[in-house]
Amino acid sequence: MSAGKVTGKFLETLAGTRFATPPVWLMRQAGRYLPEYHVVRATTRSFLEFCYTPAKAVEVTLQPIRRFGLDAAIIFSDILVIPDALGQKVWYADGEGPKLEALTDPAEFGRLSRARLPEHLAPVYEAIRQARAALPKETALLGFAGAPFTLACYMIEGGGSRDFAKTKGWAYSHPDSFGLLIDLLVDAIVDHLTYQIEAGADAVQLFDSCAGVLPEEQLFGWSLEPMVRIAHAVRARHPKIPIIAFPRAVGPATLMYRRPDAFTALSIDTGIGAHWAAQELQPHICIQGNLDPLMLVAGGVALEREATRILDKLGHGSFVFNLGHGVVPQTPPENVAQLVEIVRNWKPSTS
Ligand code: CP3
Repeated sequence: MSAGKVTGKFLETLAGTRFATPPVWLMRQAGRYLPEYHVVRATTRSFLEFCYTPAKAVEVTLQPIRRFGLDAAIIFSDILVIPDALGQKVWYADGEGPKLEALTDPAEFGRLSRARLPEHLAPVYEAIRQARAALPKETALLGFAGAPFTLACYMIEGGGSRDFAKTKGWAYSHPDSFGLLIDLLVDAIVDHLTYQIEAGADAVQLFDSCAGVLPEEQLFGWSLEPMVRIAHAVRARHPKIPIIAFPRAVGPATLMYRRPDAFTALSIDTGIGAHWAAQELQPHICIQGNLDPLMLVAGGVALEREATRILDKLGHGSFVFNLGHGVVPQTPPENVAQLVEIVRNWKPSTS
C-alpha cells in the first residue's frame, strides 16, 4: 500500500473541486502504440495469460504514467476477463481481436458460474494492489468492467460485430432469457468491481461500448437500468467510490444516463457535441471526453485546435479530459505528450 491517502487532480475533480486546468488520462493509454508495450507483450503468447501475470500487467499499466505523467492510470486488463471467469471459452486470435465460444441457447447459461470468479481473477486484484503501491499518491488508479449489454454482445456473437444482430435478435425475441443473462452479468460485475476497489482501485469505469446499437426503449432496459443497478450495489458497499459510465454512441439518449444517484461522471464519445454536453449534461454531472482518437494520430495544429475547442467548451465546468474512444495503435507517442501539454497549458478565456 502506498503511504498516505491517494488524492490528486483526477479524484478531486470527481469530488467537485475545480482546477485551472482539468485532469487528463486516455482510454487505452497502455497498449500497442507504445514500443515498450510490445517488449513486455512479446514475452507472453496468450493475451489473457499476459493480463493474468501481475508483474507484466503492472509494468504496462505504469508505462504511460512514466512517459506522460497522466493524472490517472487504468489497470491493464480486458472486459472479457468476466466471461472467461464465468467459464466461457475466450481467446484472442492474432490480428483478429477477441473470440469466444458463442452462447447459442439459454440452457448454456447453466454452465456459467460466478463461484470461480474471485479465484480466477485474483491476478487482476494482485496487479491492482501492486500498481497502487507503485504509483505516486497523486495519480489515481482506475478499475473497470464491461457493462452487461456489451459483455452479452461479445458472449452471444462470439466476438466483435458491426451490428450485434444475434444479440439483438435474442434480446427482442426472448427477453426473459436475455434478462437472466443480464442479471448474471450484473452480479458478476458487482463482484469484480468490488474486489478491484478492495484491492486499491480509487475509481471505476463501466464500458458500455456496444450500447449504440440499441433503440431508446431497449437502451433503457438493457443498458441504463443494469448499469444503475450495478452502481447502486457497488455504492452500497463503497459509498464514496467514483463511478464513471461510458454509454458509447448513444447520441442524445445520453441524457438518460445523467444519473448522479448512480454515476459520478459520464464519459462521452466523439459523436457528442462538446457545446451540447456543456449545456445539457455538465450542469448535472461531471463530463469526461471526448477528443477523436484520430486527432491524436493527426497531431500538430489540427490536434491543438480541436483539443482547445473542447477545453473552451467543457473546461469551465466539472471535466476530465479524455478521448471519445481508445487510443489507436497507429498513434505517435509524441502526440500524446503534445496533448498533455495542450491540456496543462490551456488558459480559460475570461469572456
Ligand atoms: O489502457 C487501458 O485502457 C486498459 C486496458 C484495456 C484493454 N481493453 C486492453 C486491451 C481496456 C480498458 C479494455 C477495454 C475493452 N476491451 C473494451 C471496452 C472499450 C472499447 O474499446 O470499446 C472492449 C470492447 C474490449 C474487448 C477487446 N479486447 C477488443 C475489441 C480487443 C481487440 C482490440 C484491438 O484494438 O484490436 C481486445 C484486446 C485488447 N485489450 C488489447 C489491449 C491493449 C490489444 C491486445 C494485444 O496486445 O494484441
